[in-house]
This record gives sequence, C-alpha cells and structure tokens, in this order.
Amino acid sequence: MKLGWSDVTPESLWLNRRSFMAGAAALAATPAFALSGKPSALSTDQKPNSFEEITNYNNFYEFGFGKEDPARYAGALTTDPWSVEIGGLVERPGSYGVEDLAPESALEERIYRLRCVEAWSMVIPWLGVPLASVLNKAGVQPGAKFVAFETVLRPDEMVGQRSRGIDWPYREGLRIDEAMHPLTILATGLYDKPMPNQNGAPIRLVVPWKYGFKSIKSVVKITLTDRPPQTSWEMLQPNEYGFYANVNPEVDHPRWSQATERRIGAGLLAGRQETLMFNGYGDQVADLYSGMDLAKNY
Ligand code: MTE
Repeated sequence: MKLGWSDVTPESLWLNRRSFMAGAAALAATPAFALSGKPSALSTDQKPNSFEEITNYNNFYEFGFGKEDPARYAGALTTDPWSVEIGGLVERPGSYGVEDLAPESALEERIYRLRCVEAWSMVIPWLGVPLASVLNKAGVQPGAKFVAFETVLRPDEMVGQRSRGIDWPYREGLRIDEAMHPLTILATGLYDKPMPNQNGAPIRLVVPWKYGFKSIKSVVKITLTDRPPQTSWEMLQPNEYGFYANVNPEVDHPRWSQATERRIGAGLLAGRQETLMFNGYGDQVADLYSGMDLAKNY
C-alpha cells in the first residue's frame, strides 16, 4: 500500500498541523476541514512540502507577479457557488457544480511532484478526481481530439486581471489522450483541506509530468475540440513555451537551463537536484509521445 501524506510528513509538522487544525476548527467549525482522500498507487513517496510552503510560494498571475501576491490577494475571490461549463464535442454539455464533478466520496489523495518552468519544484499532496471521470460525465464524442480550459474572468476580484500583459482569461489545453491519462486530475483540495484560493480554488487542473503552467487554476470552462486550442503562454511567447510543455531536462528554456531544479524548502546547503524526463513520470506517459521529436514539440 502507498503511504498517505501524514506518513511521510515529519512528525513535528504533523503535530503542528493537528493543533493548527484544532484551532481552525474551533474558530470556523466547518465540516470542510474533514476532507480526506483515498490513497493512490500513483502517489510519490517523496516528502511533501509543508502547507506553509505550498500556500505562500505561488504563481497565480491573476493576483500579481510576486510569489507572495497570491497568498496576499487571492482571498478576494468568491469560490462558492462555482460551476464549470463543459461544452464542445460532448454528449451532455452544460453547467456542472464542483460537488457533482468531484464528490467528496470520490476524492483521491495524489502526492505529486510539481516542476515549474522557472526551475523550482515542490511535492504537493493534492485531493482530486481523475479528469477522465469528469469528461466521462459529460460524454466525450469520438471527434474530440483536444481539451481547452479557461480560468474565471473576474477583474473586480482578481487584481492582476486589471492589468494587461496576459490576454485574460488564462487558457490552457491538452491533447485528449493526455487529458484521459490516469495521472491527470482535477484537484479540489490539498493536505486534507479544501483548495486554498492561492492554489486555484475551488477546482484546478494538475498534470504532473508537464511544467506547472499547464496546471491551470480556478477553472470555469472546459471545451472539447477537434483542433489544438490556444494557450496563454504560447500566445505570449511561442518561442519559449510550447503546447506540450513536457518536463524535459534536455530542452533548455531559451533563457535558462532546465537540467536541474531547486526544491523549495530544501535549504541552501541542499544544492540543486537533477530534473527528470517527464518529471519522473516517464514510465507512465512516455508512450503518449512515441515517434515525436520532443525538441520540436516542446
Ligand atoms: N493558473 C492560472 N489561472 N494562472 C496562473 O498564473 N500559474 C501556473 C499554474 N496555473 C497559473 C496557473 C504556474 S506557472 C504554476 S508553476 C502553477 O500554477 C503553480 O501552482 P501552485 O501555486 O499551486 O504551486
């Protein structure tokens, strides 16, 4: 059996978390704090980053470009009620509630490595459901070849959306076989708690073998299409960010090497660690790209 996050977190942290949770529960008395997910064989047994690290070092440009901006400003986002519009090449298009897409009883714990294109990494104990289970609820039509995702557009609540630079809303996309892969999830929580706003509440994509920018946050729209969708980073800098964005230590970013990464929280003396092809998920996903030139399809 695979370890749950509490087995691989140092005991001190676990105890801290318990007293934190007791305090928080006393304050808020919300049943949402009791989330739990079934352990998964797809989890890594690497040590997860702390809750504090995961929620205070973020990229969520809708709230600014600084790593601490999301923690500071994302509280302004209203995440309840929330629904996801699923459309395009599906049998049952419509507006789906988060509770219907990711019911508590279906949640799994997926402890995944996250490798940002900026060459830092973390390990995060997500709670979520396979994206495939969500797409199957809507019924994938045979002609669907790609899946497009959009983040909510709400400049009144998202300070970063009031300035340009990115053509909002943030957009991402996957090929249908990538979307249906068992590693690909829609996450609604982490560390047994509902998703913190700065991490993409209430529902965000997680694709662990791709650079973090593919894992789009606060999703409101999923569209199945027969052609590659436009993605925000490709639209902005096509020579730097491709559609695939698979983690690949051999294909450098034009402005920096992708051969190594800095694990957040590892400390100054720990040094950098080697980046693994497909972020270490090659056994599961390399087949998806057989015969493709991954230097061209970066
Ligand atoms: N999704 C949206 N909507 N906006 C963003 O700016 N940043 C991406 C991705 N998803 C981003 C986003 C990047 S660059 C990374 S590395 C991850 O979110 C970071 O996820 P985390 O903050 O939960 O670790």
